[in-house]
Amino acid sequence: MSEAPAILSVRNVSKHFGGVQALNRVSFDVHPGEVVALAGDNGAGKSTVIKAISGVFRYEDGDVLLDGKRVAFASPQEARDNGIETIYQDLALADNLSIGANIFLGREPVKKLFGFLPVIDRKAMDDAAKATMEKLDFHVSRLKAPVAAFSGGQRQAVAIGRAIYWNARLVIMDEPTAALGVPEQLKVIALIQSLKAQGKGVIFISHNLRDIFEVADRIVVFRRGENAGERKPNETTGDEIVRLMVGK
Ligand SMILES: Nc1ncnc2c1ncn2[C@@H]1O[C@H](COP(=O)(O)OP(=O)(O)OP(=O)(O)O)[C@@H](O)[C@H]1O
Ligand SMILES: [Mg+2]
Repeated sequence: MSEAPAILSVRNVSKHFGGVQALNRVSFDVHPGEVVALAGDNGAGKSTVIKAISGVFRYEDGDVLLDGKRVAFASPQEARDNGIETIYQDLALADNLSIGANIFLGREPVKKLFGFLPVIDRKAMDDAAKATMEKLDFHVSRLKAPVAAFSGGQRQAVAIGRAIYWNARLVIMDEPTAALGVPEQLKVIALIQSLKAQGKGVIFISHNLRDIFEVADRIVVFRRGENAGERKPNETTGDEIVRLMVGK
């Protein structure tokens, strides 16, 4: 059976911050319907590589290919416009805005007042926010409240809701379960499985090996900014992944 072409290919990507070589020629692929887990110790370069993919900052060397074409997004918005939704570890939500406003950030729906005056359609945003959050089975009663008033788990749900609403082809999640309670963690895992069933590509970063073994089709291990190995969950063990992470 031949594999479908990769949605995303990361090829020999490098990036440094001052004297720190955060990424040194890292490579991996993500195929449609595939969940790729990025594993690695603190500071291994996991967040840096996804920020290089999603336009938070530029990579210096190597290539990021989307559907085989080289891309170098100038901003996360540009990555979103190309079907890549990223849920950042440091949660890029606008604190002072509502759920709906966060979902539509930079892509607000517009209606015509008096038939000609363009204004932002807040009702459409609130309705979409409500429907999306219900789909996720997260029930938020305060649709108009700024998300600053929400818990970590609720904020995570809003970020995931944004990816769902915009029907991204590649969803990148950096530690999506770290701040969540157990029931919410299970929901996120179920959600990743449903993204996979819809044929989307998922990059999932986690320190939780149990979650990784539960959802990943492939585990890509980073160590100090370099590829340290790649395994299928059914062909490895947690011990081996940890050994790859620490280099022993
Ligand atoms: N904005 C930045 N400025 C300077 N150095 C940075 C910056 N972001 C990351 N680094 C450095 O790059 C390296 C990789 O960091 P990165 O955040 O990618 O690690 P990580 O694998 O996501 O770790 P963690 O599991 O702790 O989130 C680290 O040495 C870190 O200190
Ligand atoms: Mg990180």
